[in-house]
Amino acid sequence: MIVLGIETSCDETGVALVSSDRRVLAEQLYSQLDAHAVYGGVVPEIAARAHVERLDLLISAAMNEAGLQFPDLAGIAVTCGPGLIGGLIVGLVTARAIGAATGLPLVAVNHLEAHALTARLTDGIEFPYTLLLVSGGHAQLLEVSGVGRYRRLGSTIDDAVGEAFDKVAKMLGLGYPGGPAVERMARRGDPARFDLPRPLLNRADCNFSFSGLKTACRLAILKEEISEGDDQAIADLCASFQMAVGDCLVDRTRRALARTRTAGSGERRLVVAGGVAANASIGARLRELAAAERVALHVPPARLCTDNGVMIAWAGLERLACGRGDEFPLAARARWPLDPAAEPLAGAGVKA
Ligand code: KG4
Ligand code: ZN
Repeated sequence: MIVLGIETSCDETGVALVSSDRRVLAEQLYSQLDAHAVYGGVVPEIAARAHVERLDLLISAAMNEAGLQFPDLAGIAVTCGPGLIGGLIVGLVTARAIGAATGLPLVAVNHLEAHALTARLTDGIEFPYTLLLVSGGHAQLLEVSGVGRYRRLGSTIDDAVGEAFDKVAKMLGLGYPGGPAVERMARRGDPARFDLPRPLLNRADCNFSFSGLKTACRLAILKEEISEGDDQAIADLCASFQMAVGDCLVDRTRRALARTRTAGSGERRLVVAGGVAANASIGARLRELAAAERVALHVPPARLCTDNGVMIAWAGLERLACGRGDEFPLAARARWPLDPAAEPLAGAGVKA
C-alpha cells in the first residue's frame, strides 16, 4: 500500500510517497525559510502563497521520483491541523482536487499525530511509548498507546520550546530560525556564566513554561549591555539558555516516565520528535536520562523530526491500516489537540 502525504501547516511544503512496508519512495521538501527570515518569524500570508506556488510542482516531482501513477496509490493523506489556516487550506484543496480527479480516498491527518508516529516508520517500534514533542509550535509530553490513543501528560503553559529558541536568537541578532544558531553559538559558550531560571522544575505535574526564561535572557542582555558582535557574551548566554532548557526538558520527561512506569510490562520507550530534537546538546542530555531510567530512546533523523511530508504519508498509512482513515472531517483546523480530554492550559497560545 502506498500513500501520498501532503504537509502545509507551517513554513515547509512537504510531499512524500511512503509504503506500508516502511519504505520512503519519494521525498520532496521546500523550506520557505528565506521568505520569512527578514521578518524574524513565519508570516502566515506569505506562507500560504508560497505553498500555492510550490505544492503541485512538488507533487509531480515526487510522483516522478518514485516512478508512480495515481492509480498505484491507496490514498492521499493531508495535514488538516493544527497550524496556519491559509497553508492548511492550500494542502486540503489540492488533496481534494486530486481525490476528485482520481477517486483516491483522502485521509485527514493531525500534524501532531504525524510527529507522534514517525518513530514507528523509522525504528519500527511498538506501542506504547512516551513521547516528548518539542518544536516551534509545541512542547508536550504524551503517552502514546495506539493510533488515535494519546494521553497528555504535560504541555507548555505559554511558549513552545522552539519558539523560545527563536525569540532568544532574535534578541541576540542571530537570525531565524533561532534553534540552530543558538546551538552553534552555545558550543563556544560557558553555560554557567548566566544564572537563568528553570521554570516549573520539580513541580509535581509535567508541564513546561518558557516565557519567564526568555524574559530572564532579555534582562541579562540589558544588564550586561550585550550587543551584536559581542561574541563571547552571546555564546555564554546561548549556552546558559540551552542548559536551562535542557534541565527543564530532562526534569519534566523524567517525571512523565515515572507516571507511565506501570502502563506497560514490556520494554519501555521514549520517543523525541519535533525540530528541537535536532539539538545535539539536548539530545545528549536525553540520552543520559534514558540510560539512567533504563528506557530505549528513539529519535528519528533530523530531517524527519522537523516538518515533512513523509510523516504525514506514514500517519495516513497507519490510519488506513487500522480502518480509521475517515475518522476526521476534511476541514482545516487551527487548533486540534491530540488528547481532547486534557484540560486546556491557561495561556497556551500554541498550536496544540
Ligand atoms: O518541527 P519544526 O520543524 O516545526 C514546527 O512544527 O514547529 O520545528 C521548528 C523549530 C524552530 O523553532 C527551530 O528553531 C527549532 O525547531 N530547532 C531547533 C534546532 N533546530 C530546529 N531548536 C534547537 N536546536 C536546534 N538545533
Ligand atoms: Zn511540526
